[in-house]
Amino acid sequence: MQIHPCGPLCGAITVPGDKSISHRAVMLGALANGTTHISGFLMGEDCLSTIDCFRKMGVQIERTETEVIVHGVGLHGLSAPEETLYTGNSGTTTRLLCGILAGQSFASVMNGDASIQKRPMGRVIKPLREMGASIEGKSDNYCPLRIYPSELCGIEYRLPVASAQLKSAILLAGLYAEGQTTIIEPAPSRDHTERMFRALGVEIETHGNVITLDPPEDLHAVDITVPADISSAAFFLVAGAIVPGSELTIKNVGVNPTRTGILDVLRSMGADIAEEHFCDHAEPICDLTVRHSALHGIEIGGSIIPRLIDELPVIAVAAAFAEGETVIRDAQELTVKESNRISAMVAELTKAGVDIEETDDGMIIRGGRRPRGATFDTYQDHRIAMSLAVLALAAEGASRITAPEVVAISYPDFFDTLQQLGG
Ligand code: S3P
Repeated sequence: MQIHPCGPLCGAITVPGDKSISHRAVMLGALANGTTHISGFLMGEDCLSTIDCFRKMGVQIERTETEVIVHGVGLHGLSAPEETLYTGNSGTTTRLLCGILAGQSFASVMNGDASIQKRPMGRVIKPLREMGASIEGKSDNYCPLRIYPSELCGIEYRLPVASAQLKSAILLAGLYAEGQTTIIEPAPSRDHTERMFRALGVEIETHGNVITLDPPEDLHAVDITVPADISSAAFFLVAGAIVPGSELTIKNVGVNPTRTGILDVLRSMGADIAEEHFCDHAEPICDLTVRHSALHGIEIGGSIIPRLIDELPVIAVAAAFAEGETVIRDAQELTVKESNRISAMVAELTKAGVDIEETDDGMIIRGGRRPRGATFDTYQDHRIAMSLAVLALAAEGASRITAPEVVAISYPDFFDTLQQLGG
């Protein structure tokens, strides 16, 4: 795919539903008593993998033009899958499902694509085993995972990394455990599981970094409206900030405080982002309007990292256009995402002539000189592909993106929206 530098990006857009919330809506809807209508569901490949896994365990799930309808089978109503549960490229499906499967009275096998088979699962296996789960993984750390029936009991667990996937896997297993489950986070990670549990009547308390869950008798289905995904909005926030003359509104974006690190960082870099029409149901949402402005480099590290972990590739693009030095640190987790996102961004931005240096836990970008177009690899990683497309919009000369179809993981219409805006 060829991308040419474009004129101002103007107008109002809607980006697809939040990926994290869409996964959880299907999972908890499946385990609830009653029917869950999900509107705004993300029809991306990752969330479709979650639907597929639950269908294989006997859950009836319908898709209409506007909704996904999940006919809940209750906490103990899943049936043994006849084949391997295939989680595709989705770390969220794999890790969260592992927590649910650990509590079932049947055995199951889970596997995913080549990228999933390289992602660490030991971080989930370890606490689940402490709860009594019986799980085997390749080298004790990788898919395929084999999960056998066993009795679980609640534990107190201090997370070694601020990971919402890990936290959620333990909380989901906690639904099936005898006694309380307590988790201590090193820094706050996204809390969509906790919020959805509360909405479904589960007793779960958060005090600072400590989360305590009491296993419920059952979950009560509620309808769920999925906000637009701030991680998808991030590409347009950066595009609007770096393409001269742009003024762009993104509607109904989820602005849960555990996800808004991107807004804090872009504003610290000098971006002009306004929030309007705020409303708060189970998850807060608002419209975001970004206007082009001059950016400058900043330091990004510490507890903000889990609040913007998926946005760091596109933040690196913003940093390439920002005057001065941007330092990203404490972001080792980027090396175990869909690709090694530190080395991927360093290699690709180097091709564009950006002065960028890889560090153990992040990168240092000395920006301000307009990057030039190049032929970019996507590393089969949706967020790398979309970040480089944003760079290409404001670069000097044309760019080529190889294997752009990978955006279908989280944002199937990404390039259409870009074109609709004049990109
Ligand atoms: C997610 C949590 C994050 C994020 C991923 C989705 C979730 O991963 O990178 O895209 O839905 O819980 P970690 O929690 O492992 O950092």
